[in-house]
Amino acid sequence: MQVLFVTSEVAPLIKTGGLADVSAALPTALRDMNIDVRMLLPGYPQVLQALVNLQVAADFPALPGFPPARLLVDVLPNGVPLWVIECPQLYQRGGGAYQDATGIDWPDNAHRFGLLSKIAAILSCAETPLDWKPDVVHCNDWQTGLTPAYLHFVAGAAPCVMTVHNIAFQGIFPSQLTTNMGLPEESFQPDGVEFFGDLSFMKAGLYYADHITTVSPSYAREIQTAELGFGLQGLLVHKRKVLTGILNGIDTKEWDPAADPNLVQPYDIKNLQGKSANKRELQNRMGLHINDKIPLFGLVSRFTRQKGLDLLLEVASQLIALPAQLVLLGSGDKEMERAALELAHQYPGQIAAFAGFDESLAHLIEAGADIFLMPSRFEPCGLNQLYSQRYGTPPIVHATGGLIDTVVDCNAVSLLRGDASGFIFNSMDAPSLLAAARRAVATYDDKKTWRLLQQNCMSKDFSWRQSAAAYHDIYAQLMRP
Ligand code: ADP
Ligand code: GLC
Repeated sequence: MQVLFVTSEVAPLIKTGGLADVSAALPTALRDMNIDVRMLLPGYPQVLQALVNLQVAADFPALPGFPPARLLVDVLPNGVPLWVIECPQLYQRGGGAYQDATGIDWPDNAHRFGLLSKIAAILSCAETPLDWKPDVVHCNDWQTGLTPAYLHFVAGAAPCVMTVHNIAFQGIFPSQLTTNMGLPEESFQPDGVEFFGDLSFMKAGLYYADHITTVSPSYAREIQTAELGFGLQGLLVHKRKVLTGILNGIDTKEWDPAADPNLVQPYDIKNLQGKSANKRELQNRMGLHINDKIPLFGLVSRFTRQKGLDLLLEVASQLIALPAQLVLLGSGDKEMERAALELAHQYPGQIAAFAGFDESLAHLIEAGADIFLMPSRFEPCGLNQLYSQRYGTPPIVHATGGLIDTVVDCNAVSLLRGDASGFIFNSMDAPSLLAAARRAVATYDDKKTWRLLQQNCMSKDFSWRQSAAAYHDIYAQLMRP
């Protein structure tokens, strides 16, 4: 079985969020199942610099609508073979994958990801210049959404799976780009790539894909509703028979408290002592009072309304009055970043904040915090609550999407059953979040129960094993004549 995995980010080369983690871990898990997975990625400077053995594999001097490009081949540090699209005019610049250094979307994103989609399609049909052709092409999010559309109109096309990691981001561009990027005129209609008069990459992917997956069973249901479908719920209801929710797993080697180089002391389920050394280190590094009596809340997140950052900033002063400490790591909305830094300034020693992206600090927070905060308004899957459970840091989560599929609320029944693993609040408001935080602090004060809760968290299996098998079954189904 040969699969082309098309993605716009992969850890550790280029990462803005969970998609990069999934793109690193899922192909590895699939390769462990003897699936020949290969990756296709845009040649951002971060990628070209990190790979040292790049060789030319093909030339695309004149794709209609796109600047000249070349396909380079190499292998990722994790052993997954990959092709990188070299196209200096579209990718060779400072800033990030989707935005410039000030957080503004690149004005040519349609072409940046149109080219990614186009080359993925070429490699997956009879036209391919390579001697390797996938049985299935696996697309991820809007950046790859035109691939199924291109493939619909060519000969010898591989079937496609489209995975939705977040339907709130859709890649919407002016209608004239449809034919400009080489899609037939007839694709621009409601039964096609058209979305309220514009070209939608996400809609294109969903409409033309042979199978749609998303990253949790609950989110698969939620995107079929007006509340969380962001205008695409009708199409998703229509395609519900080929829509599957498959929970993300995690890379259990990368995120392992017993062998994490970012921690000052390793620990595991049998010996949680080391966790307190990491708390002290975190307090020290972030300028918090060294205090092992009160709980430390931690958060690692993109700063957006999706993640409930607005709500968290609103209740921060009440959280530390429980009493507790709070550490925040994240970047995104500049106003939210400013508000977080302001809180740290206002409550020195009690609240600490770092505005930026810091992988190592993220690991230390998962380990050094006592309680993890994830008050997302909506959450397709979420990885941080999985990491936190693996690190014995029970999360407080809003009842939505992947969060309800991966966290079991702590109460008398779940404690007795032995699967309690965190605290869930139902209503997206301050009283509901604070009530969950109060329950968490009360449980933290009961050392024996807290230890049980931590052990439940740490004994859960969040590996990719089961979910990779679910993807395998979908590929196999699509390959059947
Ligand atoms: P999303 O993809 O919606 O941002 P996920 O929970 O799926 O949410 O994944 C987020 C990933 O990005 C995690 O690996 C998390 O640790 C990481 N992350 C987010 N913000 C930061 C940050 N400021 N510094 C370091 N890592 C971060
Ligand atoms: C998206 C979602 C997040 C999910 C990640 C990986 O960024 O917001 O919930 O975990 O993709 O699938």
